[in-house]
Amino acid sequence: MKRIGMLTSGGDCQALNAAMRGVAKCIFNSGEEVEMYGFLEGYRGLIYGDFRMLTGCDFSGVLTKGGTILGSSRTPFKTIKDPDENGLDKVEAMKQNYYKLRLDCLVILGGNGTHKTANLLRSEGLNVVTLPKTIDNDLWGTDMTFGFQSAVNIATDAIDCIHTTAASHGRVFIVEVMGHKVGYLTLNAGIAGGADIILIPEIPYDIDKVIDKIEERNRNGSKFTILAVAEGAISKEDAKLSKKEYKEKMKNYKYPSVSYEIAEKIKERSGHEVRVTVPGHTQRGGSPCPYDRVFASRLGSEAGKMILNGEYGFMVGYKNREIVKVPLEEVAGKLKMVAPDARIVKEAKLLGICFGD
Ligand code: F6P
Repeated sequence: MKRIGMLTSGGDCQALNAAMRGVAKCIFNSGEEVEMYGFLEGYRGLIYGDFRMLTGCDFSGVLTKGGTILGSSRTPFKTIKDPDENGLDKVEAMKQNYYKLRLDCLVILGGNGTHKTANLLRSEGLNVVTLPKTIDNDLWGTDMTFGFQSAVNIATDAIDCIHTTAASHGRVFIVEVMGHKVGYLTLNAGIAGGADIILIPEIPYDIDKVIDKIEERNRNGSKFTILAVAEGAISKEDAKLSKKEYKEKMKNYKYPSVSYEIAEKIKERSGHEVRVTVPGHTQRGGSPCPYDRVFASRLGSEAGKMILNGEYGFMVGYKNREIVKVPLEEVAGKLKMVAPDARIVKEAKLLGICFGD
């Protein structure tokens, strides 16, 4: 008899349900006797013993469903060792709930923060298997995370829609793309949507270079320009600031987000009319694209296989077109970022795309 706990933590994304279904189908189909428990709203459910039993029926019809059937929440790693408002030791509470249910293992689906806590639980002696979810694709140890391709589709659709109106009005348009501190989503959606300028956190921008590109397009007869700007894009000046100086500067930041700052600077210095579009959380919503359904199902079934074999302490990742097991201690606490000299960046530059550098 296997007793398995499962939870989804952090910001949701597409294909979380597909991945859990993959795990469940693999294990339920194995013929092994199994009890499966779903902890509700991420680590919160594990801390406070909020769970429900899961059966095959829970996974019926969820392959195409966005969000997560277990709910999710953010439980920041930096405060995980602090007692809660009632003095509860959260790490100890998670361990006790694991032992009370006599679990053989926990399946944890999450991104960067989630992996730090998963690794902590592993180091505390719990059996853990994780799956890489995030639209940001910024998890160390895997070339791809599920949710990413679906989000690229949505961000690309947003740029596509802006294209026609930008062309009609001869305006400059900024589409702000999610991705937190990394630029994979913006880079891919920007190329797919035919953006003229792509600004990502890994390549700090010079606003004059951005304006030069807009003017060059105008001189060549293109009266509109589309910028795909990562929500974490940063100027060359700001990139030079220390963490402390940057934090201080941000205290008096007057813009809703970086795109509005860039828009104002373009208008001030060049007189061009600029419009900003922020698709925001739509990028995490809706049904997973076919790629993510297949990818998450594969990762899920591999995780199921590992659990049946009693192999714990790994994230199921994807490297060089192969599904791989990555030790959790290698994943936790590291960020995967776009290399400024990556081939895809060089290729984008050959297409004439400006990165503001
Ligand atoms: O990590 C996924 C993500 O969507 C990021 O791209 C974004 O910066 C962040 O989550 C938004 O978080 P929240 O949903 O908590 O506002």
